[in-house]
Parts: sequence; C-alpha cells; structure tokens
Amino acid sequence: MSFKAVLRGCGAFLPEKVLTNDDLSKRVDTSDEWIRERTGIRERHVASEGELTSDLAAHAARAALKDAGLTADDIDLIIVATTTPDLTFPSTAAIVQAKIGAGAGAAFDIQAVCTGFVYALSTAEKFLCAGQHKRALVIGAETFSRILDWEDRGTCVLFGDGAGAFVLEAQEESEAGDRGVMASFLRCDGRLVDLLYVDGGVSATQSTGYVRMQGNKVFREAVTRISQAMVAVCEEANVPVTDIDWFVPHQANERIIQGVVKKLDLRNDQVISTIAGQGNTSAASIPLAYCAGVADGRIKKGDLVLFEAMGGGLTWGAALMRV
Ligand code: COA
Repeated sequence: MSFKAVLRGCGAFLPEKVLTNDDLSKRVDTSDEWIRERTGIRERHVASEGELTSDLAAHAARAALKDAGLTADDIDLIIVATTTPDLTFPSTAAIVQAKIGAGAGAAFDIQAVCTGFVYALSTAEKFLCAGQHKRALVIGAETFSRILDWEDRGTCVLFGDGAGAFVLEAQEESEAGDRGVMASFLRCDGRLVDLLYVDGGVSATQSTGYVRMQGNKVFREAVTRISQAMVAVCEEANVPVTDIDWFVPHQANERIIQGVVKKLDLRNDQVISTIAGQGNTSAASIPLAYCAGVADGRIKKGDLVLFEAMGGGLTWGAALMRV
C-alpha cells in the first residue's frame, strides 16, 4: 500500500504577554523605528514565569486536534521541534503527550533550531508514508525569551515565544488524491556553527547559555540558501515556483522574506507574514503563520503551499504541500 501524509488540521497558541519595540527601547539602546525598518517586527509575545514550552505546545496541539475533528487518542506519533525544551530530558514531546492525554505512541523532539518545523514535517511524513504510524502531531514550540541576552540589542529584539501544530494523517493515495506533502529538502552545513549558536549547554558548560549571532553574516547566507531549497522542492514535485498559492516562510526578517520573493519572482499577495506581531518564534513560526492564513480565510483546502526556513547550524530547508 502506498501512503501520503495529509494535513487534517492546525492549531496555534501565543502567550498573552506582549513586548513592544518601545518596551525594548527602555531596556537596550534601540528604537521602534530601527527595529521596524531592519526587521519588520513591531511586537512579540513572551511566556510568563512558569509558562513552559510544553504548555504552549499542548495548547497548540489541542487546537489542532479540535480543528481536525480528532482527539488525543487518535494520535500515535508526536514530534516537537524545539530549541528551548522544558528539561534536558525527557523530550518536550513526552511531556506534551502526557499533558494532552495521548496514548503510548512514539514521541520525540527534533533540534534544528529555526528549521526545526521543516525537519519535523519531513520526518513525520516519512514515518506516516512508511505505514508504521497513522496520525502525527507535528509541533513547533519555543520559549526563546529564556535564552536571550536581554542586554544584547543585536538579538533580543528579534525573537518571540509561541507554538503551532499540524495534525498529519497517513492516507492511501486513492483517498488523498493530490493532497499531502509533495516534497521536502533538508540541509545543514555545520562549518557555519559560529554564525548563530547558544554559548552554553549540558556538555560544554552545564548551563543554558544565550543566543549569539553574527546577524549580518546570517542575513547574507539566507536568501541564497532558502531560495535553493524552495527551487529544489518545486523541481522535485515538477511545479513552477510561481504556481504556488501560498508562500509560508519562517518569519526571521521581513527583508529576508522580501529578498526571496524578489529572487523567485513571487508576488507579495502570495506571502503569509506574521512577523510584525510575533517576531521570530524559531521552530513555531511556520505553523503559526500557516494558522494565521487559514484563520483569516486566505489559505483554503486544496491550495498549494510552500514552506521554508533557515536557522542555527546552519540548517535550512523547504517543504511543498497540497493542503
Ligand atoms: N537597535 C539599534 N541598533 C542596532 C541594533 C538594535 N536593535 N542591533 C544592532 N544595531 C547596530 C549595530 O550595533 C551596528 O552598529 P555599529 O555600526 O555602530 O557597529 C549597526 O546597528 C549595524 O549592525 P548590523 O548587524 O550590520 O545590522 P544589520 O543591518 O545587519 O541588521 C539584523 C541587524 C540582526 C536585523 C540583521 O542582520 C538580521 O536580521 N540578520 C538575520 C538575523 C536572523 O534572521 N537570524 C535568525 C535566523 S533564523
């Protein structure tokens, strides 16, 4: 039997607390104007004390299950893409499994920083298409605010917290029709670790550390690598890039998104952008943006959607899906 991984539902969650650019300008030497011009960000949500990555993930997961018309009992695979797990172990996926009351399927985390959701989506697709699992929750969830150096204006203005989730289902080709994940492309070049990393961790320092980034160097790598991944998935699926209905990018910087739109001859009305109100929520940004596009009626069943991301590692990738 041949299976496809079809999207059944999606869900999003943002913590209530909001931090505006003006709030940040009281902490570090920056301004609303500088942040908006260089990044497109106006404000971001941040988790409150005691609000954990698994809490955000569980909220998004429940919303996705509701949207799919399913319950936690229907899920036999949970993959959480996160760089900010609750604990060193067990995985945040294991904690989410318990919080939502899912049965004893498989559950694990994926760490590919901002590319995490694309890695998780591609991994889930392979598990479902192999016929070993029937329904997966694929979640991107982050409390990046916990690993920010709030005195470093080059990084603390960029990131936010949040979570988004997809429910993917293995369907036989006859049932799925042309819906499902069509192609994915994952890459990493570990020689570029120094461009974007956290200066702490279990083995190195026995501490959590803070985000360190050479922002302009990351910026220079972004448009080329992201475009390469987008072209690769479209070629594999034999679809011209410009034929997609929606471009749902990782929300790192509005100027990076615009650079990709220009390079690949896309139109601005094909782009789902949430960066102004959310900032860069790392692995959560793609499902959060996708959910925003569904919620306001732009993305509809049967549309062709292209996802992309780049992050620490450097990692980068893309996925093409008929939803
Ligand atoms: N407010 C005011 N000034 C700031 C600032 C801030 N928040 N952050 C940096 N600056 C200053 C720098 O200190 C520097 O000052 P100097 O010239 O006196 O040394 C100046 O702005 C230019 O710094 P630079 O880093 O070259 O700016 P930039 O135009 O590249 O913009 C980023 C900085 C971070 C917005 C941009 O590089 C970027 O978005 N990079 C990609 C980051 C990213 O997406 N990372 C996540 C990938 S998943």
